[in-house]
This record gives sequence, structure tokens and C-alpha cells, in this order.
Amino acid sequence: KIKIVAVVGSLRKESYNRQLALAAKEIIGDRADFELLEYQDVPLMNQDIEYPAPEAVKRVRNEVKSADGIWFFIPEYNHFFSGVLKNLIDWLSRPISDQERQVLAGKPAAISGISPSMIGTSIAQDHLVTLISLLNMDVMNVPRLTIPNVMQQLDSDNKLTLKESYPYLEKQVNSFLSFITKRNQ
Ligand code: FNR
Repeated sequence: KIKIVAVVGSLRKESYNRQLALAAKEIIGDRADFELLEYQDVPLMNQDIEYPAPEAVKRVRNEVKSADGIWFFIPEYNHFFSGVLKNLIDWLSRPISDQERQVLAGKPAAISGISPSMIGTSIAQDHLVTLISLLNMDVMNVPRLTIPNVMQQLDSDNKLTLKESYPYLEKQVNSFLSFITKRNQ
């Protein structure tokens, strides 16, 4: 069975991007295993503590290593992706040891993002593509999903309803599943 690891670029409990990831999980149903990567405990990159890797780093590395695809759900901070995500990727970008290369290379990657603004996350997504391409991830460039105006898609409890964005999320789910399947053939 395909395993997708979702990396949400926001640590906020009520994060709209986290809610978007959970909506994708629901659409996927039993077509794939879909796990949210928990990485709050990954320390700030510091080469003094790089080897041996901290436990939290080992854990996220193993999660990513075992995945058939990585799906990023990112907020936009000042037209960039978040610092916590950059920190995580910096850790993952490093070789495990002299014998073992970094775990992102060759991994299929999808990107989505949701924000309150009109152009919600597309500039941040472009920056993320630059970074993960440098790390040799296998990026699905079409479709990428950008959902603007999140405030118009909330119910009275501040929960995401997605409304007219739902079909676009479904489309990205289907595209990413077939993208991964083709790579696995
Ligand atoms: C933001 N926000 C934001 N939104 C956007 O569309 N473009 C931007 O450049 C920024 N810049 C920005 C900087 C910083 C430091 C913060 C904290 C926030 C607003 C942001 O999109 C909003 O808070 C989202 O709700 C964050 O995503 P989550 O946490 O809901 O997933």
C-alpha cells in the first residue's frame, strides 16, 4: 500500500493547512496510508549536535524514508515558507552517515497551501520548489494547489469547510496517487 507522509508547515494547533491535510486524508480513504509528520521536537539545526543525530531527527528521517510520497501543506510567511519547515528540511537534507545518503532524494513531492490572502501561498510554494528540487525531490509541478481567502471558507466554529475548493483538493489527491504509482512501476 502507498504511504504518504504529510508535512504541514505550521505548528499551530488550529492550522488551516493542518485541516487541509486532514481533509486530503479523508478523501484518500483507504487508497493509501496517510500520516501527518509530527516534528515540533526537532531542534534547531546546529552542526555541534548533528552526529549522532538527535532522537527526534532520527524519528522524522525514518518516517520520511519509509514514505512513497511527501505532501507539503504550507502557510506563507512573508511570501516565504515557514522557518520551522526550513529547519526540518535542513535536517533531512543531510546524509545519515558516510554510507547513507539523505532521505529526500528521489521522493515524489506534492505541494498545497491555504491562506487568508488573495494570492495565498503561491510565492512561498515557488520558493519551496526551488529548495526541494535542489535536494533532488521528484516534484509534481502540476497540479499544485493554492487556496486563497480562507476566511470565506470557515464555518461558525472556525473550521475549514472548503466549499468550492473541494474538487481541486480531490483532483490533487488523484493526481498525486497516480504520480506515485507511476514512479513505483
Ligand atoms: C503570515 N501570513 C501571511 N499570509 C499570506 O498569504 N502571505 C504572507 O506573506 C503572510 N505572511 C505572514 C507572516 C507571518 C510571520 C505570519 C505568522 C503569518 C498569514 C498566514 O497566512 C495565516 O496566519 C495562516 O492562517 C497561517 O497558516 P496556518 O497556521 O493556518 O496553517
